[in-house]
Amino acid sequence: MSRPCGDDVPFGTRDETAGSVVVTAVWVMLPTYLPNSVAVLVGGGRPIDGGRTWHGTRLLGDGKTWRGAGGGFLAGALLALVLNRIGATRSAALPVFPRRAAVTLPAGAMLGDIGGSFLKRRLGRERGAPVPVLDQLGFAVGALVLTRALAPAWFRSTFTDSVLVATVVLTPVLHVLSNVAAYLVGVKGVPW
Ligand code: CTP
Ligand code: MG
Repeated sequence: MSRPCGDDVPFGTRDETAGSVVVTAVWVMLPTYLPNSVAVLVGGGRPIDGGRTWHGTRLLGDGKTWRGAGGGFLAGALLALVLNRIGATRSAALPVFPRRAAVTLPAGAMLGDIGGSFLKRRLGRERGAPVPVLDQLGFAVGALVLTRALAPAWFRSTFTDSVLVATVVLTPVLHVLSNVAAYLVGVKGVPW
């Protein structure tokens, strides 16, 4: 049976157990998490800021490239479509990504990450310097804000208060773990 995918058709109320909240939070954020990892893998080349500076400091820096942002976005959007296929055959309780959310979650993640770099440069932090909280949550805030703005009905029905809390708590943990893993396998130069 196919399930509704439009932003105007929320997927209905769920019974919220702690387990279902965590599963929903992780599932729904996967297209937000993947872009950062893919950006690290495929990134490089022309920086988004084109080398431009503001008050003597780079706008974004060499760590934000078109290839990284584009590749990360495509990977996240594709993952949302794949998750829809997997979820449809597994459980009716798993959230389905309407096309709009499949775009806004990864696009917002990349924009949030770029916004984070903009702030880091304004704070005088070099490319790659860790800025706790901003590094771990900037991309998630970008994804949530853009999705809330462009797919409001789906956002409201998916991100219940408890799912939002789980998202905010789990995101930094998953981000740190994935960065440490990328560092250990040699994909990333620093573990943050
Ligand atoms: N990357 C990229 N394009 C992006 C995001 C990331 O090419 N839009 C690549 C870059 O090679 C970057 C690496 O992924 O160095 C790690 O990403 P991130 O930690 O977000 O960047 P930093 O190098 O730490 O730069 P910043 O201090 O600006 O966050
Ligand atoms: Mg970094």
